[in-house]
Amino acid sequence: MPTHVPCGVRIAGSGSAVPDKRLTNEDLSKMMDTSDEWIRQRTGISERRIVDPEKGEGQLSLATAAMKNALDNAGMVGSDLDLIINASVTSEMTCPSNACRISAALDAAPAGAFDVLAACSGFVYAINIADSLIRSGRFKSIGVIGCDAMSTAVDYDDRSVAILFGDAAGAVVLARDEDPGRGCIHQVMEADGRTWPSLYIPRKTEDIPANASPRDARLGTLRMDGREVYKFAVTQFKNVIKESLDATGLTVDDVAQFVCHQSNIRIIESAKEKLGLPDDKVYINIDKFGNSSAGSVGLCFDQLWQAGKIKEGDIVVLVAFGGGMTWSSSVWKV
Ligand code: ACO
Repeated sequence: MPTHVPCGVRIAGSGSAVPDKRLTNEDLSKMMDTSDEWIRQRTGISERRIVDPEKGEGQLSLATAAMKNALDNAGMVGSDLDLIINASVTSEMTCPSNACRISAALDAAPAGAFDVLAACSGFVYAINIADSLIRSGRFKSIGVIGCDAMSTAVDYDDRSVAILFGDAAGAVVLARDEDPGRGCIHQVMEADGRTWPSLYIPRKTEDIPANASPRDARLGTLRMDGREVYKFAVTQFKNVIKESLDATGLTVDDVAQFVCHQSNIRIIESAKEKLGLPDDKVYINIDKFGNSSAGSVGLCFDQLWQAGKIKEGDIVVLVAFGGGMTWSSSVWKV
């Protein structure tokens, strides 16, 4: 039996990718009954990026680009990875997983590969899973991607949903580190499956809840009860950050950055106010990228990382909530 030597986890590299194509509030107001003012006031969003399927863009191309950028940042190549975890609800196929196709594109075989389905919480779930697998001693380097091409699952006839979402990918390479104190020092991965009808993508008519409105009978597109999601998020967002701080004995002053899922500016502002989080510790990019589901926390992390705002030794708290309903946090000593 090999002896297990305790180890930690370091972030060896980070990367992200967004499509070139911009979809502004002005563009949306030509497609549906809405306005720039309504969208900005209710959500904080001015524009979002969307893939162009005619150019062959989709979840796979975005996720692959982000992973390649993270590998470049780490000075590594695909064959250096032992495992690839792709968090998404918009992978092109369910079999094979897009993780397998990302592995093929980056020449990573025989690295393991699988997708994680936890909606907007997906990247934080995946980073928690990867940290635990490295600490188990079985894996040395894992590529983690959070990516959604939500424009491929949005009903552009439903103005309450269409205005929120954009497409983006964020990725990190996690590697074994000798210091057991480095890496994820506390994690939350929870769900309340009873609340699933607030947010779902039906594939067949039997998937649609009995009390759903006729509008929600559109298969293959995201159905959302915005008010229910909002109420859930405002409470859970604050609770999961508080739980993470209480469990680790950390205070807001100890944390360099709270990297939060970009769902709606009002949800983030509510958590900031209730917990006394200062502006310079809560990064916001929802104005430019909208809600990119599993892509959002990784995209924020990468923009902070590339700007030198997350450094070795920093304490960083990643936090997200999403369909399921799921919620997750990950407290890191970088
Ligand atoms: N433009 C103009 N008017 C609109 C629009 C729009 N785009 N969308 C809705 N309205 C109207 C509604 O029809 C309603 O009109 P009525 O009063 O005549 O019925 C009015 O505006 C108010 O509608 P509400 O739904 O109460 O608006 P609200 O202030 O709740 O904002 C929103 C809606 C932005 C969707 C909000 O509820 C929200 O952000 N919820 C959270 C959504 C979220 O975070 N989703 C992502 C979850 S993460 C994941 O896993 C995918």
